[in-house]
Amino acid sequence: MAGNIRIVALISGAGSNLQAIIDACESGQINGSVVFVGSDNAEADGLNRAKKHGISTFVVDYQAVVAPSRAPSLEALVPKDFVLERVLASQHVISACSNRDKLVRYFCTRAIAEAALLKEMAAYPFDLLVLAGFMRVLTPYFIDRINIDPSRPRIMNIHPALLPSFPGVDGYADTYRYGCKVGGCTVHFVDYGEDTGPIIGQKAFEIEAGDTLEIVREKGLRLEWELYPACIQLFAEDRLSVVSKTYTLQDGTTFKRKVVKIFR
Ligand code: GRF
Repeated sequence: MAGNIRIVALISGAGSNLQAIIDACESGQINGSVVFVGSDNAEADGLNRAKKHGISTFVVDYQAVVAPSRAPSLEALVPKDFVLERVLASQHVISACSNRDKLVRYFCTRAIAEAALLKEMAAYPFDLLVLAGFMRVLTPYFIDRINIDPSRPRIMNIHPALLPSFPGVDGYADTYRYGCKVGGCTVHFVDYGEDTGPIIGQKAFEIEAGDTLEIVREKGLRLEWELYPACIQLFAEDRLSVVSKTYTLQDGTTFKRKVVKIFR
């Protein structure tokens, strides 16, 4: 794919990573351009950042879809191509032992919101989707419609912790409150779990005795702004491949994990 890639970003908030990506495209650090930006939050500051650079934006109001009182008949609203059992069988976000009604409601409402996202995105062909502070879990329904070729994933996320430690919504706070001496950030491809996909890159920083949570966040964000553009450029240069690697444990048993191979 080497060449200029078309990037789509999904955001929910401040959009400082989006800004770093736009700047890196404009300076030539990334061979590509951001073609549009979507959000689940009409108030996201990042939408204004995009507009300042002449980038189209759209909003899908998840809240309107997922608020129980507003979606009385889910069956009538789920997209026609949504196969509930297929999604339930592939997802790793919620334990399969959970209450079935809750599971069904969760994945049906997400599919409705994700179908709206896909509809907006259909107007803009793109090569890579980056999640830049998008605070919604994407389900297999959506992921499978973006990763047409499963061997070539094209959804990236940035997470504010050194995965696999501290997945979830507030990685810096979790790192800080655990008393860690090192924090960091991770860029990974998105898979069917929450922050579990193959890792592309990581950066770490020291947490010093006097650091507050705000300082930890600031140190982390500064590294995110370097790491995300660098990982996106690896994708633009077609240097990323996801391979299945076999590892052997001390007792001789083996397991396989999908990992990212970076070509030199
Ligand atoms: C970042 O810390 C990112 O790692 C996390 O959400 C935050 C988004 O910040 N997923 P911003 O909106 O890019 O400023």
